[in-house]
Amino acid sequence: MDFISVKEAFGRAGEVALRGWCSRVRTQKNIVFVVLRDGSGSIQVAFKEGDVSADAFKRASELTVESSITLTGAVRKDDRAPGGYEVQGRTLDVVHVAERFPIVKDKSPEFLLDVRHLWLRSEQIANVTVVKDTLMSAARDWFRKNEWFETTPPIITASAAEGGSTIFEIDYFGDKAYLSQSAQMYLEALIFPLERVWAITPSFRAETSRTTRHLTEYWHLEAEAAWLDQEANMRVQESLVSAMAQAVGKQCAEQLRALGRDPADLLKIKPPFKRITYDDAIEILKKKGMDVKWGDDLRTEEERALVEGEEKPIFVTNYPAHIKAFYMKLNPDGKTVACADMIAPEGFGEIIGGSQRSEDIEYMKKRLKAEGANLKNYEWYFDLRRFGSVPHSGFGLGIERVVRWFCKLEHIRDATPFPRTLNRFYP
Ligand code: 4AD
Ligand code: MG
Repeated sequence: MDFISVKEAFGRAGEVALRGWCSRVRTQKNIVFVVLRDGSGSIQVAFKEGDVSADAFKRASELTVESSITLTGAVRKDDRAPGGYEVQGRTLDVVHVAERFPIVKDKSPEFLLDVRHLWLRSEQIANVTVVKDTLMSAARDWFRKNEWFETTPPIITASAAEGGSTIFEIDYFGDKAYLSQSAQMYLEALIFPLERVWAITPSFRAETSRTTRHLTEYWHLEAEAAWLDQEANMRVQESLVSAMAQAVGKQCAEQLRALGRDPADLLKIKPPFKRITYDDAIEILKKKGMDVKWGDDLRTEEERALVEGEEKPIFVTNYPAHIKAFYMKLNPDGKTVACADMIAPEGFGEIIGGSQRSEDIEYMKKRLKAEGANLKNYEWYFDLRRFGSVPHSGFGLGIERVVRWFCKLEHIRDATPFPRTLNRFYP
């Protein structure tokens, strides 16, 4: 008999062959109950003395948590079983008897991070991973449909895109090189042959503050297009994020519910998203009694206050130049830049940073000098403004930030299988 998946077994009548892992094992009188897990889900299997050979019953009674098995049996509707179906075991082969599984009830978050390679087998992480798969694939579909090219920028770089304070330095055969914080500058180079380009790459930030929304390694979705101004840039972003939310809301309803997120919340995410200027944001925050003044960067608390009562993300536009990166286009007021952060609802904070790019080499040099950067490393970037420069814009979306929001996770580390944080890169 050919093996079928657990998902396919639900609702099937008659004999099936299944294989997977025992996430739970419990013996009740003359029946061994096993919760069998595979890549598609879990189902209860009952091995009853007499229904199976004496040998098979003995093997079943010796099963341990996480042992791998193959079996045949008959699927039956059973309201008492989780999911409403049960398999009555007929034959059992044990592929591997697992050693005593270290994860039992009541383990601390730190311990679970130490055994993350095993904790990945929990339902929660599997559900999050399915959501992540779905949203990345929805993004890819969106770009293809709208005729953007997926590209492959480098990870080893010579210059910082987002400032030297959070950059990881590496020894490159005796030279200093850096792990990419953003593919932006490389995508900017790629708009000249292709106009609309995007990429998903790992980005690295040597973040020294411990927060629930910073990883030191994260997956970064970035896009860049020629002839795109900042207003059109925001329209791209709201359309893309809505497509991701719709796909997850529709395709992952079951996973979302298990994670405590109502899929209807995501189905509400549709363009347009509200836009408020940074100037207005400061006034709103002051009226709410918060201690902020023009020129301050917005922290988690302020971002949370700005989305109070909102069901969709909002854009905060035109931040002061001095709190944003050197490459953003200066507005005519000479103080603010043509940029926007997209802020997710419910206090999940910034999920996208984007801007129109400066074409003024002297302005960018002045900004970089003030930051103490080595201008020599940026000569190639300035070349992009010397040979057929055009207005262009782009943005970067933190995949784990969006996963955290969609899945309503307390901490961003649960949005990725092997989180890298200030004091952890094992396992
Ligand atoms: O706002 P950021 O720093 O912008 C850039 O890197 C631009 N160069 C992007 C571009 O225009 N191509 O980062 C973009 C997004 C943030 O909005 C956030 O979602 C995510 O990347 N992000 C992080 N996610 C997890 N951990 C961190 N330490 C992050 N830092 C930024
Ligand atoms: Mg940002």
